[in-house]
Amino acid sequence: MADRPLVLGIETSCDETGVGIVRGETLLVDAIASSVDEHARFGGVVPEVASRAHLEAMIPTIERACTTAGVSLREVDAVAVTSGPGLAGALMVGVAAAKSLAVGLGVPLFGVNHLASHVAVDIVEHGPLPEPTMALLVSGGHSSLLLVPDVTNEISSLGSTIDDAAGEAFDKVARVLGLPFPGGPHIDRAAREGQVTIDFPRGLTTGRDLERHRFDFSFSGLKTAVARWVELRQRAGEPVPVADVAASFQEAVVDVLTRKAVAACRAEGVGHLQIGGGVAANSRLRALAQERCDAAGVELRVPRPGLCTDNGAMVAALGAQMVLRGRTPSDLGLSADSSMPVTEISA
Ligand code: KG4
Ligand code: ZN
Repeated sequence: MADRPLVLGIETSCDETGVGIVRGETLLVDAIASSVDEHARFGGVVPEVASRAHLEAMIPTIERACTTAGVSLREVDAVAVTSGPGLAGALMVGVAAAKSLAVGLGVPLFGVNHLASHVAVDIVEHGPLPEPTMALLVSGGHSSLLLVPDVTNEISSLGSTIDDAAGEAFDKVARVLGLPFPGGPHIDRAAREGQVTIDFPRGLTTGRDLERHRFDFSFSGLKTAVARWVELRQRAGEPVPVADVAASFQEAVVDVLTRKAVAACRAEGVGHLQIGGGVAANSRLRALAQERCDAAGVELRVPRPGLCTDNGAMVAALGAQMVLRGRTPSDLGLSADSSMPVTEISA
């Protein structure tokens, strides 16, 4: 196999059908079809709707990826696919498509972890990951601090959320504020017009909570505090200052995330922090992380926003690393694992 393997990656863990093609550590294309508009009126992703949309989008998205990259499927050296974690039915569509492609083309198949892929995607953006790297993974379903000695082989979790994920908190607070789903980008935008005027709680950052949960997160108390604050305003018949609430809520989330991430780098003596997952697209998180990393002498790596949210490039990026490092492919009995743990990088 070439020293710069051509790897096609398929992502279907949630509502984005992603097909990415990577040559070695170079991204050739990142094709996406999203069913997000079909879920918006339900205020969250409906699993059956997502599965059906993946089924309909899969072949056109693969074709579009190949055409845009100017590659023929026959040139592909390996196929990678998200085998978990995620929505079971949605994952199954991607896994079945990847198996068919791998069998048809006679190439190896790699079932990979969605969360590790959110870390690995930074390789096609900023080059090889320093080993070890500290990764802050913040998405709609997960919030974790990960020590990553080798993204193809070894990841350990230093802490994670004990209730809501960061993205989930953005989505729920957006709903309280009457903003559309998914809420993250809308809160990000609204917050730019507002001021941090309300001091919302920072979970697990003081006293015994901090001692017991040094690198864990909690966002459910914050979400409730925002909801209560808004409700009190509404009951009093006063207008809700949406932009200020958005800015204050967002500041509470990114303050805790960046504080704990930098503390973890210090505690582990790690000089590089990578931030991945949909919430890493947040403009205030990116700015505050840069400020705090600069002050702590930590080098920050965050992919461009389009590579932070779910996509196929991240799966291809991790797949290419698996090939380059001679990792064992998955067998064709590969099945989707909706609760695949973050420490399990490939299936
Ligand atoms: O990684 P991702 O695309 O899907 C999962 O694996 O969950 O993350 C989606 C999450 C959603 O909760 C969405 O609201 C949030 O990422 N998100 C953002 C921003 N863009 C997406 N949160 C805050 N600010 C953003 N700009
Ligand atoms: Zn994700």
